[in-house]
Amino acid sequence: MAGKRDQWGTKIGFILAAIGSAIGLGNIWRYPYIAYSNGGGAFLIPYFFALFTAGIPLMILEYSIGHKFRGATPAALARANKKWEWLGWWPSVNSIVILIYYSMILGWALNYVFLAFTRAWGDDPNKYFFGQFLGLTDSPWNLGTMQWHILIAMAVIWFANWYICFKGVSDGIEKANKVLLPMLFVIMIIIVIRGVTLPGAVQGLETLLHPDWSKVLDFKVWIAAYGQIFFSLSLAMGVMMTYASYLPKKTDIVNSAFFTALANSGFEFLAALGVFSILGYMAHVQNLPVDKVVTSSIGLAFVVFPQGMNMMPGIFKVLLGVLFFAGLVFAGMTSSVSMVEAFSAPFIDKFGIRRKKIVTIICIGGFAISTLFATGAGLFFLDIIDNFINSFGAVIIGLSEAIVIGWLFGTQKVREHVNPISHYPVGKWWDVTVKFVTPAVLIYMLINNIIENISKPYGGYPMSAVVILGWLVAAGTVAAGLILASRPWAENTLNNYEDYEAE
Ligand code: PHE
Repeated sequence: MAGKRDQWGTKIGFILAAIGSAIGLGNIWRYPYIAYSNGGGAFLIPYFFALFTAGIPLMILEYSIGHKFRGATPAALARANKKWEWLGWWPSVNSIVILIYYSMILGWALNYVFLAFTRAWGDDPNKYFFGQFLGLTDSPWNLGTMQWHILIAMAVIWFANWYICFKGVSDGIEKANKVLLPMLFVIMIIIVIRGVTLPGAVQGLETLLHPDWSKVLDFKVWIAAYGQIFFSLSLAMGVMMTYASYLPKKTDIVNSAFFTALANSGFEFLAALGVFSILGYMAHVQNLPVDKVVTSSIGLAFVVFPQGMNMMPGIFKVLLGVLFFAGLVFAGMTSSVSMVEAFSAPFIDKFGIRRKKIVTIICIGGFAISTLFATGAGLFFLDIIDNFINSFGAVIIGLSEAIVIGWLFGTQKVREHVNPISHYPVGKWWDVTVKFVTPAVLIYMLINNIIENISKPYGGYPMSAVVILGWLVAAGTVAAGLILASRPWAENTLNNYEDYEAE
């Protein structure tokens, strides 16, 4: 087993793949809306606070532990201490759960690439999206009909997931990122340039940036900021540890962590710039205030944007839509493969299953479950899972990582591993952050979030059953983690890692 472990072909390959995982749907449709609805310019305060108190410290932690123990999250944590293996399986399981709905949104985006050519959504994109396109039913208990166009698109997405991960780390994931990421960047630049040169763009940007200071004191805004940082940086999902485990021995961990985080935030701001200047233009054309143009987060990409395409001048009527949705697909694809990898690598590490076999099983299984999301109730499932896995799962896992590594394993040992290979050594600030600051803020977020969820009924639909379903999914991921952790390791795989080195 040891010695044959996959590795990145080049260092830039790793950085690109990590950035590719971070940059995704979260940056393009989620961030602009979240920033806007949580205080606009003022959101930057909790956002940067979250980035520096949890995002970057945990990124350094995940890179270091993955790199030091040369394993995906379960193996890495088990090698640190056998007792913590389950804490490694849990995020891996979460990443595949997230991927199920993530691939649904990707399936929508893929459809919209083609719809954009003819602007098939017509004059009423809202009605088109929820009606004809999603066939949305009135509750999660009513599946409605199978939406074949969504199912077919999801099949394509899962096939791409399978193909890329099947080929392996350097031949598959690295290559895919080397192609898709530069294309995404070019697309985004075109969108931003077109956006900011439209009349009304300035109003749009003013709306995005105008600080609503009253929001800074609202803890919900802080929860949103932490949620955004975790999701956007692909933290606490097993991805970053797994990716770091494919690095050669001598790698600048600290630099890579900062670089990934800053590139991700930079892209997020760029996307917001493009999106809001286009919203400003729409407001300008309709002679409305910008806030009348912005609707819900999912609606932003699939309802508001198509409306915007309809109003575009000249060839941008078609081009902008095609580019925007293709950009979503490219960005989402590189995140999507990272989730498949985060779930398959642990099986390769622990049970010695061949990559080709496990990736095939996971992708077929993932697609099978996805069929449920291609029904008229898909959007409800997204909502439920997103709420329970993202707002609780990720924060609890991030918190546990900080406590386990900070207090039980010891930040000192991590620094001893990382500093000799990093250009800028991590200082004491990191120890203090991981041991005190990160746990303190995350515990605070968690408690407030629980209170919020208990005191306010979830959504509009039959509350108790939906909440039970949400908790079942969340509990299911923990249970799956515990079961997988209890299985025996294939011979010689747990502690046989020190000698492996490709270079
Ligand atoms: N970071 C990705 C995005 O912003 C989503 C993601 C979450 C990817 C968790 C991997 C793991 O869209």
